[in-house]
Amino acid sequence: MSHTTVASPQEVTIKDKTFTIRIPSAEIQSRVKELAAIINRDYEGKNPIILGVLNGSVFFAVDLMRHFNMSCELSFIRVASYHGGLQTSGQVTDIMGVKENLEGRHVLLVEDIVDTGITATHLISEIGKHNPASLKMATALFKPAALRADFKPDYVGFEVAPDFLIGYGLDYDGLARNLNDIYVLKP
Ligand code: IMP
Ligand code: MG
Repeated sequence: MSHTTVASPQEVTIKDKTFTIRIPSAEIQSRVKELAAIINRDYEGKNPIILGVLNGSVFFAVDLMRHFNMSCELSFIRVASYHGGLQTSGQVTDIMGVKENLEGRHVLLVEDIVDTGITATHLISEIGKHNPASLKMATALFKPAALRADFKPDYVGFEVAPDFLIGYGLDYDGLARNLNDIYVLKP
């Protein structure tokens, strides 16, 4: 049986907005592999719990996990800070909390993107209350110029300019998460 992949267009239109390709899938996958090797080495023998932040981080969390050859667990939590569209609300609403006992565990939070850092700061403080042995964050994308919090992710896939991105888990009004490449909003 032949393996088919969806061809990547240079431009996509989602509702009223047009986006152009910014990080091709092959580049994302090779960076994920590199990052996974580093994380795997750092957490070897620690049986970490990988805590993905829904919905956006699913693709990155699973892709990272596929490269780990250490003992590890996977779980997800859900928060919301975006009310759709292009702007962050600056407020984090807890939707679905932690079910696992994190006390004494090595916890690696996995995010799709750190933009203002408000979500990350909130997560670190909330998860920190569970007394984990260690707590770090891996993010596929990081917008250092958009940062409004005293926070820096520990593992970063790509540092990007503060433009609106879609694809590889990132959405515009709930759409476009399924794109394998990352696209940027056309000015
Ligand atoms: P924060 O501003 O760092 O708290 O980011 C909050 C959330 O906004 C992220 O987890 C994403 O879900 C979303 N977000 C931030 N930047 C973008 C973007 O460029 N495209 C799509 N979603 C984004
Ligand atoms: Mg998110």
